[in-house]
Amino acid sequence: MGMPPLASGPHGPDALRPLLGTVLDALRTGTATRGGPLPAGGPDTVTARVREAVGDVLPDTGDPDALRTLVTALAEGAADPAHPLCAAHLHGPALAVAAAADLAASALNPSLDSWDQAPAATALEALVTRALAHETGAADALVTTGGTESNQLALLLAREAHGRTVRLVHGTNAHHSLPRAAWLLGLPEPVTVPAPAGTLDPAALDEALTRTPGPHLVAATAGTTDAGLIDPLPEIADRCAAHAARLHIDAAYGGGLLFSGRHRPKLTGLDTAHTVALDLHKLGWQPIAAGLLTVKDAADLTPLHHRADYLNADDDTEAGLPDLLGRSPRTSRRPDILKTAVTLKTLGRDGLGALVDQVCALAQQLAELVTDHPGLELHAPPTISTVLFRPTGATDDTVARIRRTLLTTGRAALGRARADGRLWLKATLLNPHTRPDDLAALLRLVHHVEGNTPR
Ligand SMILES: Cc1ncc(COP(=O)(O)O)c(C=O)c1O
Repeated sequence: MGMPPLASGPHGPDALRPLLGTVLDALRTGTATRGGPLPAGGPDTVTARVREAVGDVLPDTGDPDALRTLVTALAEGAADPAHPLCAAHLHGPALAVAAAADLAASALNPSLDSWDQAPAATALEALVTRALAHETGAADALVTTGGTESNQLALLLAREAHGRTVRLVHGTNAHHSLPRAAWLLGLPEPVTVPAPAGTLDPAALDEALTRTPGPHLVAATAGTTDAGLIDPLPEIADRCAAHAARLHIDAAYGGGLLFSGRHRPKLTGLDTAHTVALDLHKLGWQPIAAGLLTVKDAADLTPLHHRADYLNADDDTEAGLPDLLGRSPRTSRRPDILKTAVTLKTLGRDGLGALVDQVCALAQQLAELVTDHPGLELHAPPTISTVLFRPTGATDDTVARIRRTLLTTGRAALGRARADGRLWLKATLLNPHTRPDDLAALLRLVHHVEGNTPR
């Protein structure tokens, strides 16, 4: 093999074009071989197939066919969120235009830790983060790798604003990354507030804030992981104000509702938060990673400022070079904002809002199908695009086994969630191309597998 070509520079596009053809062919072949939402056979079968495809990971002599072989293997063994029966998690299908933009990000490889590595990407990130921040009523936003990093940063900013005794107060419905961030940052043991109906109870929150010494950081959720529920944000904001508690809203899932005129009112109160986690790789159809943390008071970002002479020397900053190190605790950083910017501008508010409306409507349709099905029980009408259901009278063990059977036979990917003390199957509908017939097929599958599952 001669000198391998580069992705950027004047010859980059010429080098990429035939490779893209290979990638697209491999995606087509692998997807066709799989046939369904995920590979059949379970972990051992998939692992054996991947081992066989890879062979020697680092051979002495290179293999020019590796791109085709490995992309085919990955597509064949993928859980493909573009398949209508792949609906387990907040793991959505990426828009083609966003994936295409991401190719440009990889090819150009700007790094957002200093202006001299990313001149235009720096300007684009500033424009888009501020526009998205304004959507939530905030002043500024940082780009993150997702909800987990956004939640960590929210706790870090709270610690810097209120000191190391700041105590996280969160519902039992909150994402696990919140208490984990408290552990990571060495904060006091968090206070957990019961959420028996799946949302944070403001009276129980008030009681917790009265009972435990502050300062407090309250974390509310707009779009719970298990059920897609939205905490009563205005009431929570009132209780926080009464107790001088800081408020973070984890809208990693529900934040996408901002794009829809119909569903946006469900987020009333979002603008009261000091910080908000948004995640456009959930309800935003972006390839991972596409997280944001919006910050109401831009001064809250001051503690993130950091000096490293090779990246942001004082004299460079004084001479007008943007200082990027304070925009993230990371150093090298991908221009994840490019795909988001391309998506926002290509689809516009109307286009994105229509996708949001569509997946929410699909959830309503699935809920109706479940309600009309004599053998199935619906947990509750959906708030966003998550539907919890279970075969009537099934034990938790049966529900768990149905899910695993569907997964390991490659017929459907459904999630699981515990609510009201029972285990439920979870359908997280994020694919706007899913049709009502697909939803009916999903329920037929569950019913069929249940019939063959011992109780
Ligand atoms: C409510 C909520 N917050 C945070 C996260 C974490 O997001 P990420 O996986 O992007 O780190 C999730 C993930 O599902 C979530 O549901």
